[in-house]
Amino acid sequence: MTSQTFGVQDLTLTSVSGSNVDSMTQLHDSYDLAGLTLPNRVVMAPMTRVRSNPEGLATASTATYYAQRASAGLIVSEGVHPHVEGQSNPLTPGLATDEQAASWVQVTDAVHNHGGRIFAQLMHGGRVGHPDNTGGLQPVGPSAVAAPGRGFTPKGPQDFPTPRALSGDEVVEHAASYGEAAARGIGAGFDGVELHGANGYLIAQFLSSNANLRTDSYGGSIENRVRFAVEATAGAVEKVGGHRVGIRLSPDSGIWGVEETESRELYLALLEQLSPLGLAYVHLEATTDDDTLLALRKAWDGTLIMNPARPGGPTPAGPEDARRWLDNGADLISFGRAFIANPDLVERLRDGLPLAEADPATFYAGGDRGYIDYPTYRA
Ligand SMILES: Cc1cc2nc3c(=O)[nH]c(=O)nc-3n(C[C@H](O)[C@H](O)[C@H](O)COP(=O)(O)O)c2cc1C
Repeated sequence: MTSQTFGVQDLTLTSVSGSNVDSMTQLHDSYDLAGLTLPNRVVMAPMTRVRSNPEGLATASTATYYAQRASAGLIVSEGVHPHVEGQSNPLTPGLATDEQAASWVQVTDAVHNHGGRIFAQLMHGGRVGHPDNTGGLQPVGPSAVAAPGRGFTPKGPQDFPTPRALSGDEVVEHAASYGEAAARGIGAGFDGVELHGANGYLIAQFLSSNANLRTDSYGGSIENRVRFAVEATAGAVEKVGGHRVGIRLSPDSGIWGVEETESRELYLALLEQLSPLGLAYVHLEATTDDDTLLALRKAWDGTLIMNPARPGGPTPAGPEDARRWLDNGADLISFGRAFIANPDLVERLRDGLPLAEADPATFYAGGDRGYIDYPTYRA
């Protein structure tokens, strides 16, 4: 593993807006997240690790992994499917059943006992799935349009099948599954939930202009394309309260083949409709141009978590990205890969300690190696 040697306090960056770093918010400042006190502004980004048991249950290792990272201001869990038809990858955990919810109690207890806070990311894969991952269930989507490329299955990568287009009643059912899973998650001790509206999964498929070809009230115009996202989020708010609900968005990401025409208008319309719901936060990935990201920041009155690096980009988000986005109005900064390799990331950033680099070969490899064996810098 190689190291990088820089820390937040070493930076003398000029921000896009030209702000003075010294007078600005620091990553180690505390933050009131809708009544939940975060001791710092460092968020662990959601990361699928493909290490549940075959029934989609979280394990003792899952508890150890998150507890090791409990010094994060907030942990957002790996993507967790809210509906049995929404499981995207093999060996990913769920909140689709009471048994799956019960398996998370050991995780939320461990995080809380180590002084942390954790939201569950509700990730419905939609068309990004395979019957081999769901005991034979055909993936579902807004329309019968297959995602390009191949997805993970127990037999290795396989072409994505054409999804079954959801009927009108089923759209309502799948939107409601986020709220039902949110209630199970809160019952299992999570501090809140984040709807996965990013990266080409079900919500993003509805936002899309090429995955969503519906001619009913869920497709076509911007107003119709945002409807599923708004209904799913409102359903979760109704079940557990807006202060316990966030949503993750990745404008223009193109991930898993989703295209979005008029994307800036689309996301501005979405934020406008989410605004009255009193959400804990919007979690934005830097998947589009800075102009659009800054316009979205301006349009959203509430808490903004910024994930500053492109998913799959060669360099994980680091302290320089954090500084830049704090200067540009983000309230909290999420780090993905840096948290895999640095369970003590908060301490390393605060004290300017070297950062270890994560080994991509173990991201989805299963087992405890590359999962719970990254050391802290100090003993
Ligand atoms: C192994 C791995 C798994 C990921 N799984 C998810 C996921 O389940 N949900 C999600 O929203 N993003 C997921 N992401 C994207 C990260 O949350 C993050 O946006 C991305 O890694 C860029 O941030 P970074 O540069 O700090 O790593 C994943 C990324 C990695 C590396």
